[in-house]
Amino acid sequence: MAQTHNSVFEAAYFASREYRTQLEDRPVMPRHEDLIRLRHLHEPLPGEGTDETAVIEKLHEIGSPNTVASTGGRFFGFVVGGALPVSVAANWLSSTWDQNAGSWLLSPIAGELEVIAGGWLLELLDLPRDAAFGFVTGATMATFSSVAAARSSLLKRQGYDIKKLGLVDTPRLRVVMSEEIHPTNIASLGYAGIGTDQIEYCPVDDQGRIIPDQMPELDSLTIVMLQAGNINSGSFDDFKTVCAIAKEAGAWVHVDGAFGLWARTSQSKAHLTDGIEMADSWSVDGHKWPNLTQDSAVYFCRDKDAVHDVFGVDATYLMKDANRQPNNYTPELSRRARGIEFWAVLKTLGASGVASIIDRCCDHAQLIAQGLESAGYKILNDVVLNQIVFVGDDEAHTRRALKFIQDSGRLWLGPTTWKNHHAMRISVSSAATTGDEVLECISIMTAAFNETKK
Ligand SMILES: Cc1ncc(COP(=O)(O)O)c(C=O)c1O
Repeated sequence: MAQTHNSVFEAAYFASREYRTQLEDRPVMPRHEDLIRLRHLHEPLPGEGTDETAVIEKLHEIGSPNTVASTGGRFFGFVVGGALPVSVAANWLSSTWDQNAGSWLLSPIAGELEVIAGGWLLELLDLPRDAAFGFVTGATMATFSSVAAARSSLLKRQGYDIKKLGLVDTPRLRVVMSEEIHPTNIASLGYAGIGTDQIEYCPVDDQGRIIPDQMPELDSLTIVMLQAGNINSGSFDDFKTVCAIAKEAGAWVHVDGAFGLWARTSQSKAHLTDGIEMADSWSVDGHKWPNLTQDSAVYFCRDKDAVHDVFGVDATYLMKDANRQPNNYTPELSRRARGIEFWAVLKTLGASGVASIIDRCCDHAQLIAQGLESAGYKILNDVVLNQIVFVGDDEAHTRRALKFIQDSGRLWLGPTTWKNHHAMRISVSSAATTGDEVLECISIMTAAFNETKK
């Protein structure tokens, strides 16, 4: 492709602008002919360099059509959110600054914005205002960070300093979680040295909520993992009841609120999170519901000392000062300045703007569920949030309808298994989704039901 821009930045700006304006018309998933063109990227390692502007232009030419249009309004797969323009723009500027957010001295702006955004998030989510927080890549690392703090705290209470001892000859920790827990929680436990044999699964009800009466007895060596937002049904565990039992037993409660914790910002949904503030630690993704760019999450932990025991790093060359040192709250030292996008999005939206994204997505989900029911589908979950699980007349019909929907290119959703049913699953988590798009998608899914019916 001939070079058409004067600078690498201009090329990137042009490509980004074109990409966003074409989202409306392009298929949600890459077309077959675009995927084929990925082959053009495979070439021997270049011996000589290439003009940087031409590199960006090539990236746009082959890369942009080979993206999933999850920043648009018709991608309902997984729970990935979109990316608000201001989040992308803040990401550009902070990438331009290329700040190392590990220490305050290395980036006063990154350090300050983390403090401000962290405080705002605690207020917005109505969690203990003095909780520690760390900006990490995603809910998986947020949960790992929380579990690492939990592990340290519970064992310290028994007289074990695991920073010194490791997990050798220390009492065995137990983990109690629902059968419906998101699998990344199990991965996070593993990173923290807690194996699957240490997990005791608790039965769940028809919405995937833990049944408190059937929980194993808790003790002071137990970590209880609860969910705000089941990945399929969107349901919430009974935080009030479980936290009260856990508190009495001296157990630690962690809440995976990857997307569901944001319900707390909405007047009509906040009741789903009642009692969540009684937990000890919480994880939440920025890149899901408030539509920050990917790689944006945060965890909060009531026990600041535990966080310091796990992540506190001392070295004379780091030249600590009186400011909050970001690296003392996360697994990494050098990392990008994630607090910047959190600050920019919260400053742009305000508390009411975040709530209105949550409300809008939940209203869209209600409308879609009604449309699906009218079309003849069966909805398998109570649509309390942004998630819908639904089926056709039988498994074969469900599979055919899903293929029809995916082949339309106009929207995308994926399969799941829910209560032994092969089902389809919708998550409305992009702020970009409009009412018109919802109506268009309902009409495609209605056609899918009728056209694929036996
Ligand atoms: C409920 C829940 N927990 C955890 C995760 C993992 O989040 P991340 O991919 O940001 O690590 C997800 C991702 O979809 C999720 O929905």
